[in-house]
Amino acid sequence: MLTRVDFNVPLEGARILDDTRIRESLPTINDLRARHARVILVTHVGRPDGAVDEAFRTTPLASRLSQLLGSPVRHLDDCVGPEIEAAVGGLRDGDVVMLENVRFHLGETRNDPTFARELAALGEVFVNDAFGTAHRAHASTVGVTAYLPSVAGLLMAREIATLGRIMTDPPRPLVAVIGGSKISTKIGVLKSLLERVDRLCVGGAMACTFLKAKGLDMGRSLVEEDQLDTARSLLAAPARGRTLILPLDAVVAADAKPGVPAKTVSVDAVPPELKVLDVGPMTVERFLQVCDGAGAVVWNGPLGVYEVPPFNRGTQALAEGLAGSQAETIIGGGDLVAAVQELHLADRMSFVSTGGGATLEFLEGKTLPGIAALRDA
Ligand code: 3PG
Repeated sequence: MLTRVDFNVPLEGARILDDTRIRESLPTINDLRARHARVILVTHVGRPDGAVDEAFRTTPLASRLSQLLGSPVRHLDDCVGPEIEAAVGGLRDGDVVMLENVRFHLGETRNDPTFARELAALGEVFVNDAFGTAHRAHASTVGVTAYLPSVAGLLMAREIATLGRIMTDPPRPLVAVIGGSKISTKIGVLKSLLERVDRLCVGGAMACTFLKAKGLDMGRSLVEEDQLDTARSLLAAPARGRTLILPLDAVVAADAKPGVPAKTVSVDAVPPELKVLDVGPMTVERFLQVCDGAGAVVWNGPLGVYEVPPFNRGTQALAEGLAGSQAETIIGGGDLVAAVQELHLADRMSFVSTGGGATLEFLEGKTLPGIAALRDA
């Protein structure tokens, strides 16, 4: 089974900083092994741009997987070619091997058919469990499906089922919380969610553009001047009882640096020389009130500069509030997922998506090529 996983995990040298994506692939790998399959894992890590980069070898990923499975995972030094074919030919039922980073070959990101055919030659069936890479039309996500019967792995299926339900038949009321720094990168998801949700809370630096569009002075905050019209039209958009909720208060400081003096102010009293770097406690309380009684809450993007304390407090307080909530809680997007993992609250959410860009594009309502290829195959 040629099995595409997304083990694109944060690395510090050979140290894996967060192995969530590896752990989330275990059900599929174990299921394949239980069916006596020979499992050939293919992944990318980083963006090595078609060249061998020592910092992005898959060796530490194979070691970690081996620990988690409690059985050996052999690492192969390349992902295509006669030596790899020979190694794969020698596998026995239930064996697991991990190919070298597929992005060491330019053919991967170019979705080159010759490269895709070489990869496909290693297996008889293609299992795609790499939801996190489903938004990329690459050789190992799309190209190979031209040559092999192609199916979704268990993680891929779970992501599609959970996020798909939010898009088509969500538990109601449905509340979305959107944070992050820029409207320009979230415009698609904001529009798409405004169509579907009952209430939409906006936090993060992005909220400053909305507040400025309402006529408030945001001091030195990150405001996207070229998005003010977009913000105005989104503010005017809510209809049929849908509401867009903006912050009431904010944590302000001169810069997002540790130890810098910070204070909480009302959003209509942001000092001209300071920047908004987090939402304040009244805002968190308001967002939690909005989420209270919701059928589901989908949250994408942190509410402040969460990597620099104390500007992580808004994100932390909302995560803690939601962790105890009755609503189905769906957390998506790389930064927020990292924050929730760091807070050890991931297990207390209903679902934490393994996708970053893929989750965002899914919630935008886009067709993800890696998923569409499975449907067609
Ligand atoms: C991700 O981490 O979002 C995926 O692994 C895709 O990685 P990429 O943005 O480098 O294509």
